[in-house]
Amino acid sequence: MAKELKREGLSEEKKGLILALLAEGHSERRVASILNISKTAVHKNKIKQQTLGTTKPQTGRGRKRLSVDQDDRQLIRMSLNNRRMTSSDLQKEWEMTAGIKCTARTVRNRLLGAGLKSCKARKKPFINEKERARPSMGDVPVNAISLDLLRDARETVRTSPLGVINTPMIPWCQTTLPLNIPCNIHIKLENMQRTGSFKIRGVANQFARRPKGGNFVTMSAGNYGKSFAYATKHYGSKGKVVMPETAPESRSTLIQSFGCEVERVPTSCLINVVNRCVEENDMTFLHSYDDLDLIAGHASLGFEILELMPQPDVVVVCCGGGGLLAGVAAAIKLSGCVKTRIYGVEPEGACTMYKSLIEKKPVGMDSESIASGLAPPTAGTLPYELCQSYVEEIVLVSDEEIKSAVSTLYRAGLLVEPSGCAAFAAIANNRIPDIAGRNVVVILSGGNIGKDELTNFAD
Ligand SMILES: Cc1ncc(COP(=O)(O)O)c(C=O)c1O
Repeated sequence: MAKELKREGLSEEKKGLILALLAEGHSERRVASILNISKTAVHKNKIKQQTLGTTKPQTGRGRKRLSVDQDDRQLIRMSLNNRRMTSSDLQKEWEMTAGIKCTARTVRNRLLGAGLKSCKARKKPFINEKERARPSMGDVPVNAISLDLLRDARETVRTSPLGVINTPMIPWCQTTLPLNIPCNIHIKLENMQRTGSFKIRGVANQFARRPKGGNFVTMSAGNYGKSFAYATKHYGSKGKVVMPETAPESRSTLIQSFGCEVERVPTSCLINVVNRCVEENDMTFLHSYDDLDLIAGHASLGFEILELMPQPDVVVVCCGGGGLLAGVAAAIKLSGCVKTRIYGVEPEGACTMYKSLIEKKPVGMDSESIASGLAPPTAGTLPYELCQSYVEEIVLVSDEEIKSAVSTLYRAGLLVEPSGCAAFAAIANNRIPDIAGRNVVVILSGGNIGKDELTNFAD
């Protein structure tokens, strides 16, 4: 056990943080995600400390202040604020994690005493039951993500005031596709979805499960930011999108047109600015790919595919942080299509999920690709866990192949952005194994590309 911890190279400070977060009622998965370490390391550290008898939260005058550095504090605050919990939720979690009986008030006091006293947002960390919209799907372990939970989200998306549509799925019948493999390809046109991409599905479920008129912040230069802004307008919420200063000006203008504030900052400052908004302005951070409500909303796309093709042989999905792939794969596999092979597709220069599945933990890299939506710095923790269970394999395509797919689809009358094309590029370049004679579904996940950008692609 000690060996395992050593292998992961956990500092004493990190070990202390693990305990502090667990004591605050966070699940092991959540703690792993916050500290960017594996769940196994969290679990083993917890067991080890329990054996040594140190997990019991310290109380009374002699209580030690936790040794937590500034960055870690900010991360913790951000994730705490991302959770909409009542005091009794916290009480239950505390009882489960720490194994002691206590009142909701004790929980509150313990949390306030856990080295986070100065955080403004902690003064209002809990919402009362009336404030809740539908309950957030929250922080459940992967094996608790059930078909019922995803179906519930599907219903929420279907009836959302945001007007999410059932996008068409059509058989590929163009002769322009340079494909020699005889298989039945069906393309699911999420480029025709409201706001131009699938992201609105997850956003519809996220917003339905948070208080109306909330104050939200996110960081995105792309499709998530657009759907987020659209949702804030419809829900009468306040919203702010922190974007890299390298993002096209037209994207900021569009987001501002929905009434959202935009702050453009150097890429390296994105997270700090979000933290500041959470701490100083009491805003709630919404994640663009690592959030259960969002992923469950994306799962609606998987259910729609099955309504039109009950037993697809192969489904191919573009992958960035992994939220879309995880949602679609979970919906299909949990619906009983255990033989359906689901492939994620990433650019060669931004293959975080590919690496994560090899290294058996979510990892990051200096991502770079023409498909910017597929190039986040790290794979999502929850998406990684779901992909591990439900995805066959991640395949890679080059930027050249993505560019060529944009052109091929354009010639076929379809406007699809580079991030929405990767799955199609994988098929066109014969990257998916054993598809001859199979029913193959390819998701074209987004169509937000301007005329000016299109001029960069060959005819
Ligand atoms: C068009 C498009 N497809 C796919 C993705 C990848 O989604 P995820 O980050 O959920 O993997 C994105 C992400 O922004 C996108 O914009």
